[in-house]
Amino acid sequence: MITIHVPGDKSICHRALMLAPLAEGASLIRGLALSADVRATGAAMEALGASSIRPLGQGEPIEIRGPVELRSPGSVIDCGNSGTTARLIMGLIAGSSAAAALDGDESLRRRPMDRVAQPLRRAGASVRELREPGHLPLEIEGRVLSPIQHESEVASAQVKSALLLAGLASRVAVTVIEPGVSRDHTERMLRALGAQIEVDPQDDGMRVSLDPPSGPLKPIDMTVPGDFSSAAFWLGLAVLGGCGGELRVEGVGLNPGRTGFLRVLEAMGVSLDAVTTREEAGEPVGNVVVRPSAMRGVEIPPEWVPSLIDEIPILACVASRAAGRTIIRGAQELRVKESDRIAALHANLVALGVSCRERPDGLEIEGADRSVAGVVETRSDHRIAMAFGVLGAVPGNSIAVDDRGCAEVSYPGFWEQLARVAVSGAAP
Ligand code: S3P
Repeated sequence: MITIHVPGDKSICHRALMLAPLAEGASLIRGLALSADVRATGAAMEALGASSIRPLGQGEPIEIRGPVELRSPGSVIDCGNSGTTARLIMGLIAGSSAAAALDGDESLRRRPMDRVAQPLRRAGASVRELREPGHLPLEIEGRVLSPIQHESEVASAQVKSALLLAGLASRVAVTVIEPGVSRDHTERMLRALGAQIEVDPQDDGMRVSLDPPSGPLKPIDMTVPGDFSSAAFWLGLAVLGGCGGELRVEGVGLNPGRTGFLRVLEAMGVSLDAVTTREEAGEPVGNVVVRPSAMRGVEIPPEWVPSLIDEIPILACVASRAAGRTIIRGAQELRVKESDRIAALHANLVALGVSCRERPDGLEIEGADRSVAGVVETRSDHRIAMAFGVLGAVPGNSIAVDDRGCAEVSYPGFWEQLARVAVSGAAP
């Protein structure tokens, strides 16, 4: 059996880097990921005055001292490719007395920022787009905010978290109602820091409320769990028989808001075990074992989608080898990720000879246990690159991925690890 460790959870790293400077005392964070997205948040927080974030980049535990009064940076904050950095930092600045200009790469400039900008404006912050309404680059100026009450049209942890951070920074109450259940890392971390957070399940979604903290927040002391979204690539490789037997991922985050991919694999007929062994700052952490399995296509209930949204690229690749049709619906948010992932998956699967239909809100994939070959265009999207990298490493398949470098966004060292783990021994 092969044992795998994956880098620290990206979503949790962003939050730890943003929340630790607001807490009183020294926070200690172990296992921080060194991906480009997490570095973007580290650099942004440094620019905003959290100067003690070093040595980010050494793979060592980092200590962050707080509380820090956010200050206006001298230059534009570059969020790179990272939507989480841009949206959560917008919330943090909106509730502070700082002002900053935010920008990102071409992909991030195309992604919608209105979903965060509008509720922040309504609470009193100033948000001014510099080129195109609803998009980066923009300037944001913090104010003393009024209490925030927001009903979001999308189940988005980034929207929810941006508003919670705004309320925290400005010390006002926040209520966010979501039409589905998005990942709850911010709520768990805030609770671990001593903040008062309430969650009430609604008909389909969730209502989350934060009381303005009356005292200081407690510092964080945590080892960041492995990133389930990174683990999903190895689970996919193993179930497709690409690593020659069982595979075990150790020390991975098992927050139920993230592990919908396991439910889908089980529904497809995969034999797996997932066991929680400990908690880190309110996050369940454990091990997952999967075995190569004969799989059948499934229809994925739309309400499962938020818990597997980032795993749909690898899921689509797995489904291309499962017998019969897999239907993914209710995943329209994929159109505004790092690329339009519905279009990217459809075009690439078709280019490899897989029968696949594009829906406005998802995909229908006719899977079969036969080899595929061809060239994949990643559209500079890290998850598209890694998903097809995995499919290409399955014996019998032959896939050339046009841009492997974009994996650095979330998973430095991915290709080297793939070359070690895959039975084919060859990353495409
Ligand atoms: C994230 C939330 C999700 C996810 C993204 C990370 C987060 O996006 O797709 O990769 O860390 O909050 P949305 O909030 O837009 O759904």
